Amino acid sequence: MSPLRVQGLVKRFGDRVVLDAVDIEVSGGEVVAVVGESGSGKSTLLNLVAGLEPADAGTVFIDGVEVGLFDDDQRTMLRRKSIGFVFQAFHLLPYLDAAANVALPLELLGWDRAARDARVMAMLMAVGLGSRARSRLQDLSGGEQQRIAVARALAHRPRLVLADEPTGNLDARSAMEVLELMLAETRAVGAGALLVTHSMPAARRCDRIVQLVDGRAQAAQ
Ligand SMILES: Nc1ncnc2c1ncn2[C@@H]1O[C@H](COP(=O)(O)OP(=O)(O)OP(=O)(O)O)[C@@H](O)[C@H]1O
Ligand SMILES: [Mg+2]
Repeated sequence: MSPLRVQGLVKRFGDRVVLDAVDIEVSGGEVVAVVGESGSGKSTLLNLVAGLEPADAGTVFIDGVEVGLFDDDQRTMLRRKSIGFVFQAFHLLPYLDAAANVALPLELLGWDRAARDARVMAMLMAVGLGSRARSRLQDLSGGEQQRIAVARALAHRPRLVLADEPTGNLDARSAMEVLELMLAETRAVGAGALLVTHSMPAARRCDRIVQLVDGRAQAAQ
């Protein structure tokens, strides 16, 4: 079962058609780069896939389940369990420390303390921030916060990773390390990922590139 299948997705803001029948399928173990000009609808696409905003038409299947049929509670549960989201603006909790931010989704899923602590530490080390576990989020740099956001999104081994420019604030080397981590984690569990990026080297490192142009998704080189 594909982690994600999007069919005929349409989104309008007023008269403006941002997504005009978008079709995308992401297979298990596949990381798909989403590219397109600023304003082309990349963040909107991710928000619709995650059920954070309603679509005007079209269907989203996550692991073969049509999420449009879900009520709010079911959507929240699905997001918590099956999706890992790296927001363009991080959406971390500034007063909690790095470890607590990464642990939060695992707590909500009922992971026991020992498993949670081990996974949190492994993820912090994987993003190069093992020594900052007890730093408050607001004391970390933008790039460090971004790496925490990636660690949090991957911690519960989601079926679908949705990442909105997850390396946009990082230097070239850190960006590639974070990207390799996302590729490895996604492939290890046969999950799927949609990764929005403005970086062509990052996009080329993914399995496939989809470009949003005039509201349509097309294959790109
Ligand atoms: N809530 C909203 N109300 C009205 N227009 C919106 C809303 N959200 C997004 N838009 C418009 O939809 C278009 C697509 O926005 P979106 O954020 O998806 O672009 P993007 O491809 O992620 O751009 P960027 O690369 O700059 O992040 C933009 O023109 C934006 O102004
Ligand atoms: Mg965006």
